[in-house]
Parts: sequence; structure tokens; C-alpha cells
Amino acid sequence: LDNGLMRTPPMGWMSWGRFRCNTDCRNDPKNCISEALFVDMADRLVEDGWLKLGYKYLIIDDCWSFMSRDNKGRLMPDPIRFPNGIHKLAHYAHDRKLKLGIHANMGKQTCAGYPGTMLDQIETDAQTFADWEVDMLKFDGCYSNVNEQQKGFPLMSKALNATGRPIAYSCSWPMYRGGLPPSVNYSFLGEICNLWRNYDDIEDSWESVMRIVDWFFQNQADLQSVSGPGHWNDPDMLIIGNFGLNMEQSQAQMALWAIMAAPLIMSNDLRTLTGEARSILQNKAVIAINQDPLGIQGRRILQDEGHIEVFWRPLSKSASALVFLSRRTDMPYRYHSTLSLLNYTSSSYTAYDVFKDETVSLPSVNTHFTITINPSGVVMWYVYPDKSFEQTKETGGHPN
Ligand code: GLA
Repeated sequence: LDNGLMRTPPMGWMSWGRFRCNTDCRNDPKNCISEALFVDMADRLVEDGWLKLGYKYLIIDDCWSFMSRDNKGRLMPDPIRFPNGIHKLAHYAHDRKLKLGIHANMGKQTCAGYPGTMLDQIETDAQTFADWEVDMLKFDGCYSNVNEQQKGFPLMSKALNATGRPIAYSCSWPMYRGGLPPSVNYSFLGEICNLWRNYDDIEDSWESVMRIVDWFFQNQADLQSVSGPGHWNDPDMLIIGNFGLNMEQSQAQMALWAIMAAPLIMSNDLRTLTGEARSILQNKAVIAINQDPLGIQGRRILQDEGHIEVFWRPLSKSASALVFLSRRTDMPYRYHSTLSLLNYTSSSYTAYDVFKDETVSLPSVNTHFTITINPSGVVMWYVYPDKSFEQTKETGGHPN
């Protein structure tokens, strides 16, 4: 969607993965969907260095609203859990240079059973969100049929635009239509949405991460070209910092999301994150790869018989990223290759190992290298051509 927003994949924090529909503020006040939770996360985003790195969206997922609309037919927040309302929360976010996102649902009710948005309520809801100074809408699609979705998702895009407020628009439409062409028209989606969930919800497990990764890369021929600045595929939240992934697997999720040019939307508890999880999520090199201005989604280029998979993403400045993933379950695997085996041609390169913070010199594409990849872990390289080589080329072989 060409509204000037999300020219690189959005980064931020969303409540669903970690806090779901916990509305039990009486017994679990620290972890229930409430104003207090979002204020806590806003504070953490700002004070713990997240915002500086680009994590600016604070997104309220399902279960924020009251069970009925107000007497003018408008959605309203649960008055006990959001005593000061969403507009105040937006101010709290904006005062800290954060952006506020919110969840709504095309259909009778949200997936968790809260009031949905029917076709004749779309304009009202878009205006309500604009009045509250919301910056992003995640528009879900539970309890609606093909026709309602066909009308509703484009209509919401129009309605948001008509408010005059720049509101980034995330559509879950493809996820409800199988995620693939011809049922999903991705070029149309790219005109009306800034990002979209293509596939199933992520769960707090490695199995879930691998299911999503497999689906996205099995379908890369259909998906790679439809993503780009202002319109992204969304394989769902980063679950790093929760309970399902060990540190190898956490690096793997981060690395693969960067290869996919995926949104980096965390769903974890920023108040209790371990230093290890934080260092993975705050890795500047991985973030820079994810946020590369060309915005080209990467692909899987090799599935080795030894259960090693190689992923590649082209980046600006003639650079690229490589991820070597081990799907083995025995021991650290020593993987031998050359850049020419990975389709690189004619240059001298340096590879920067983003997690080890070390460089590897590859004077020719035929230089052999060996890396050690841990079970369910990755090695991730930022690969860039050596200056001297580029100069040599430009001066016709006579550097000076
Ligand atoms: C769907 C979405 C999730 C979340 C829940 C909320 O399952 O895919 O991301 O928004 O609804 O009910």
C-alpha cells in the first residue's frame, strides 16, 4: 500500500503471542490485557533500547474491547482494564515516539469472541481509530465468509485512507483463503495493505517455527515477488524470549525472519527477558539485514542431504545475507562449501558472522570454507564484496 508507511518491515511488540486473551486482571494483574500492560511495554521499549533500534510499534491485539458497542455504535475499550481509554494510551505512546497499533476483525466477532466489524460498521470503526490517533490496524478475518472478506478488506483500506490519518494497515485476509494464488490475489493485496498474515498463527515452539518456515519457503515462488517496500508478507510474531525456543533456535528464528524481510514484531515479556534473548533480538547486524532498503525477500537456495539448508537474500551495496540452518539432531555439523556452490560469481568477498562477530575472508568464490552449525541452529553471514576487488575492476585491473 502506497501510503508512505512501512517502507521497511515494521518492528515492534504485540500482545497476542505471549499474553493472548488473558483478561483476568483481578488474579493476574501484571499479565492481563490492560492499559497497565501496554504502559509497561511502552516503558520497556523506550528505556531498554528497543525503540532506538527500530522497534517502534506497540500493538494491542484481541480482547481489548468491551463486549458491546456504545450508544453511537462505536467500539469501546473495556472500561475496567483500559480506564483511561485508547486515545490516552496513544498519547502515552506518542509522547515516547512510539506508534500505537490496534486489532479489529472483519466479521461478526473476533477469533476470541469480542465484537467484530461488519461491513456497515467499517467506516465508523476506521473513524474511531483515527479519532483515537491510532497508527496501525491489524484487521483479522474470523467469522466472515469469502464475500464479506472480498468487500471488507478493501473497504477498510479506503475508510482508513478517508480519515486523512496515516494508519498502517495489516490484513489477515490471505490467511483465511489458504495463502496462495489463485485464491489470493497478491498484487491487489499489495495495493490495499501494508502487510498481511499469509499462514497459520505461530505457537511457542520450534515445531511451529519450522512449520511456518517450511510453508513460506516451499511457496517462495509465489510469495517472494509480492513483498517489498510498503507491502510485506508476515510469517507472524517473534517468540524469542518465551519458553519454546532455546538460544540456537532463537537465533534461527531471528535469522530466518531477516532473510524473509519479515516484520520483527516481538511477543514476549520485555520486563523479564534474559540477556541472551535480548542480545539476539537487539543484534544490530541482523536488524540491518532485515531492514535493508531494497526490501527484497530472500529464498531457500539449497536443501542438503545432510539436513543443512541454505537461505540467501540480496541486499543493497552488492551485499547479501546467507543463513545456514541445521535441521540435524545429532551434534554440531561441520559444513564445507564455497561461494560458487551457492551461485556467487567472480568477486573477492568478506563474510561477517553476525552472531559470532567475526569475519571470514573469501578471496575467491572457489575458496573452501568450513562452518560449524549446531543442531536446530544457524550460522548467519553478511557477505560483501571487497573494496579492493571492486576498485581493481573499475580501474581495469590496475588498482591505485
Ligand atoms: C487470530 C490471529 C492471531 C490473533 C488472534 C486473536 O488467530 O491470527 O494473530 O490476532 O486471532 O484472537
